[in-house]
Amino acid sequence: MSEIPTHSAITQFPIIDDQLVIGGKSVTEHLEQGLSTPCYLYDAAVIANTIRTLRKHLPEDIKLHYALKANPHAQLVQFMAQHVDGFDIASQGELQLALKTNINPQDISFAGPGKRDEELLAAIEAGIRINVESLGELNRIASLAEDHQPPRLSIRINPDFDLKGSGMAMGGSAKPFGIDKEQLDDVFRTAHEHKLVIDGLHIYAGSQCLDAQAIIDAQKASLDLALELIDTFNLCLSEINLGGGFGIPYFPGEKPLDISKLGAALSEVIDDFAALQPNVDIVIELGRYLVGEAGVYLTRIIDTKTSRGDAFWICDGGMHHHLAASGNLGQIIRKNYPVVNPLHVNLGKRTQVTITGPLCTPLDILAAKHTIGEAQVGDVIAVMQSGAYGASASPKDFLSHPHAAEVFIDERDA
Ligand SMILES: Cc1ncc(COP(=O)(O)O)c(C=O)c1O
Repeated sequence: MSEIPTHSAITQFPIIDDQLVIGGKSVTEHLEQGLSTPCYLYDAAVIANTIRTLRKHLPEDIKLHYALKANPHAQLVQFMAQHVDGFDIASQGELQLALKTNINPQDISFAGPGKRDEELLAAIEAGIRINVESLGELNRIASLAEDHQPPRLSIRINPDFDLKGSGMAMGGSAKPFGIDKEQLDDVFRTAHEHKLVIDGLHIYAGSQCLDAQAIIDAQKASLDLALELIDTFNLCLSEINLGGGFGIPYFPGEKPLDISKLGAALSEVIDDFAALQPNVDIVIELGRYLVGEAGVYLTRIIDTKTSRGDAFWICDGGMHHHLAASGNLGQIIRKNYPVVNPLHVNLGKRTQVTITGPLCTPLDILAAKHTIGEAQVGDVIAVMQSGAYGASASPKDFLSHPHAAEVFIDERDA
């Protein structure tokens, strides 16, 4: 008989006496000391550890950028600025956050379709790199930049391959992101006519991939494409941004990405590339891989009931705070995030229950028919893997319930 797939074990936080410990304290201690639910907790030590381990495996000279869209919490962003080499931003709001940190504007890049003139101008004035997403955008940049310092430009390419096995493919077919490889003739001609210098390429093939080989293949294909374009368009590049797509295990049966295999293969392809193009910086930009495992969403059980034989726990938080855990942020088949009773993580009596939020919609589910340590009204449950695309990616005003607090815990501040 085949085994029922389970969630990957929690290894990023200590579990002491079967209790989840976040930022050096059990959830009970946090609550006794005044933490109120619903809330997100982000643990700085977990982020620092993830980055340390990642850097150990990645080639030494690769530039590691943080994609603010994963979690734009101001303290977390300040913390990230101490630990990464640059930022990827996707709006003027993120630009403002990024400019308040110690990250050099030269190490910030701005990607994303539909950049408004105001945003492009702010980017040009700040001297950050713009990843150009269309010919139209390039033309607008040309006229906006007329009385300003020359803009720093990369072309974001929609390649003719995608990132296999990614949760979200962002290249390889008709997409609003980047410029089709087949249209690059026009783009480089237009840049030349406007005397705009393009000295970077950005290739973002997909997101949330747990298959190291698929990422290696996409990175290799990206660097091969870069070499082809350098040759065809006689480019003089200072930077290639290979995107990222490194995933974390969310659902039963998923396994963590093999980062040592990935790092070793990336070193080889980068060495081969550097032998031909020694003066080009190679950047990867990651969001969820850096912060996703460091966040926990806590919500309290308000009511319990059974309906037609199924048990329900109804909580004070749900989809309006955590759209991704409810399955409504891009999941095709809804699956459960790892949700645990933080007082009885692995041991003790288990029960099967559907955990919902307080919204009047059947979409408001935090876990369906999920096996978890027994709990009762007033107890708190923990949704793990919640540090990325949580609070900021959720419809927090839906039904006008209170917002979730977000608490960044850096034990060094204690
Ligand atoms: C251009 C770009 N960079 C970085 C990211 C971050 O992705 P992730 O959080 O999966 O690493 C995304 C996600 O959509 C993206 O579109």
